[in-house]
Amino acid sequence: MSALDSWDSPAYSAVSFPSGGAVAKVLDQRKLPWTETYDTVSTWQDMAEAILTMRVRGAPAIGVAAAYGMVLAAFTAPREPELFIRAMEEAARGLVVTRPTAVNLAWAVEHLLAHARKVAGEEPVRRSASCLERARGIHEDDIAACKRMGEHGVALFPDEGTVLTHCNAGALATGGYGTALGLLRAAREHGKKLRVLASETRPYLQGARLTAWELAKDGFDVKIVTDNMVGHLFARKLVSCVVVGADRVARNGDVANKIGTYGLACLAHMHGVRMIVAAPVSTVDLATPNGDAIPIEHRPGSEVTEIALPSGHVSIAPEGVGALHPAFDVTPARLVSAFVTERGVASPLDEASLAKLVAG
Ligand code: MRU
Repeated sequence: MSALDSWDSPAYSAVSFPSGGAVAKVLDQRKLPWTETYDTVSTWQDMAEAILTMRVRGAPAIGVAAAYGMVLAAFTAPREPELFIRAMEEAARGLVVTRPTAVNLAWAVEHLLAHARKVAGEEPVRRSASCLERARGIHEDDIAACKRMGEHGVALFPDEGTVLTHCNAGALATGGYGTALGLLRAAREHGKKLRVLASETRPYLQGARLTAWELAKDGFDVKIVTDNMVGHLFARKLVSCVVVGADRVARNGDVANKIGTYGLACLAHMHGVRMIVAAPVSTVDLATPNGDAIPIEHRPGSEVTEIALPSGHVSIAPEGVGALHPAFDVTPARLVSAFVTERGVASPLDEASLAKLVAG
């Protein structure tokens, strides 16, 4: 059985490309926890829309989704090799612009584009099958990377304690198993008794809606806290350690992650609590020198002024008042106690330890 068939048999998957077909399936995460709906995605443009509108989200998962988006482009591209390459380049441009901070997206698209160039001269059926195989490879590698990360991270957790996590860096945000939540899964498999606090993660509520959903499904002791409760929880010594994912790690080790992570890192530092970041090597961007150079995605203010409910969007702001919505922030490397990847752990995290880790 391949890693794609199961990462210990969850009944859900953020994105998949069922065998024998020419369409992808995307779990619409905007509808969780209320309903588990899988959308059929049959063109790269639809996949770009699914990523842009956060039906599929989380850096590694959107990398996998974009890889499948490139496969969809290959299925419909013209037969003639030069036109095929042009169509693939157009799809690559359209997919990459959807979410600028998560570097896994560009990484996966570039991989598929390079592969498409290699197989452009083959028969259309063969070359799209070959692109699909490559995309499935990226998906499988991501699950395997999460599992290895989990093993590397186990020693960083206490035998018993309360772990705070932010946003959703779980199976829903990756090919499967999860980065930050993968570490928790692995720690549990090693007998550690961990309670989890999921910070709500305004405005998209990935913590309340998604992390709580997947951890509760998995039998974890998980409780939701609002983002503004965390200072108090640190002050009362109710947090043993923090674990989060990452959307991009710059060459000097600065970490871009969901807005709110920087504040948690400052609190963790101030209270002497370990701040763990987990991400695959594909999240490391050596071409970006430091956190200041990481592009921060700004999303519509309406995502802050409105709450999305199954019954529709409800405004929580006075009419005419707008909102800021930077979707990510940057945590300086020195505030990260340990950076966990599938190749091992960098601790302390800095340019030298990161370079060594990436080199394998
Ligand atoms: O905006 P999102 O939901 O795509 O945010 C990305 C994230 O889930 C997190 O920032 C996460 O920690 C990194 S992805 C495993």
